[in-house]
Amino acid sequence: MSERDAGARTVRVETSSRAYDVVVGAGVLDATGRIAREAAGGERCCVVTDSNVEALYAARVERSLAEAGYDVAERLAFPAGERSKTISTLGELLEGLARRELTRSDVVIALGGGVTGDMAGLAAALYLRGVRVVQVPTSLLAMVDSSVGGKTAVDLSAGKNLVGAFWQPSAVVADVRCLETIDHRLFTDSCGEVVKHAVLADGALLDELVAAPLNARDVDEARLVDVVARNVAIKRDVVSADERESGVRQTLNLGHTIGHAIEAASEFTLGHGSCVAAGLCMIARASERLGWCSGETRERIERCVIAHGLPTGCELPTEMLMHYMAHDKKRRGDGVNVIVPVEVGRCEVRRVSLDDLRQIVELGR
Ligand code: GLY
Repeated sequence: MSERDAGARTVRVETSSRAYDVVVGAGVLDATGRIAREAAGGERCCVVTDSNVEALYAARVERSLAEAGYDVAERLAFPAGERSKTISTLGELLEGLARRELTRSDVVIALGGGVTGDMAGLAAALYLRGVRVVQVPTSLLAMVDSSVGGKTAVDLSAGKNLVGAFWQPSAVVADVRCLETIDHRLFTDSCGEVVKHAVLADGALLDELVAAPLNARDVDEARLVDVVARNVAIKRDVVSADERESGVRQTLNLGHTIGHAIEAASEFTLGHGSCVAAGLCMIARASERLGWCSGETRERIERCVIAHGLPTGCELPTEMLMHYMAHDKKRRGDGVNVIVPVEVGRCEVRRVSLDDLRQIVELGR
């Protein structure tokens, strides 16, 4: 690491398909080339990014890649936003990689937020039946969640992330200085996933977040590095144990069963993290009433959500939420797995019927 990267943290992720480092630091963007070269090798690489991030960071990352000895192909950029996360854009990316003559030993650099990471990751998984990808997340949500663990996807008109693959990156480079340019509302929204991780596995982090909530305006770099690295370590522990989400990885969906329904019912006008926060509080309140968790656990969760200015519930009618939960891609047969916060640091997967789920939503209000 250079002097500017002092204080960077490396979290090693070991899954059954690949082991890789997640480097979290302030200024590590300029080390992308070296990290990619050491982790992925190859001769040629291509940066895939969106129109917003391209203007901010693409040239810098490409310089770092060229300095590390890569033959840097002309970048591929698509219009920023979830609307671009389609089979059609994916097709354009694949055609673009072919036109740039990337070979099996070459590397895709996914530079951007969750949409870019998911879509560039899927393009890498499919192109030539799989080429290496280095994830360079530039949003808080992508740093703490989507860039780690190998889930890649695009949306269909029937729902989000309905086409995808598990394709682990060769490395992840998370530069918290990229968060300086992030929209404050987006930063706050992403805190929903940070709170979720703390509830899953790190009670001390939860208490710290209550005492000093994350705020895009005044959070210092060292603290951001610490919080992001701890979130990555939490996710690492889960995906290392269950890469394909057949067991414990389902706990990462804490707050998501109801949260996804709120998100879809709001026609995606509410942010993902805000919906997860609301879903988290609703399952906590229902769990307390059903005797699955204590009032103290419910209160700790709500306190942290409130401290970040995130919603603790929603006004949408139960039947509307039920419609979306009944069509959720995670539904299995005629039941749904909900994640119950038994206590901070211990969550369980419980299978419930749709009727039980209706009761949970009502009790969670
Ligand atoms: N975001 C949940 C997971 O990666 O499994």
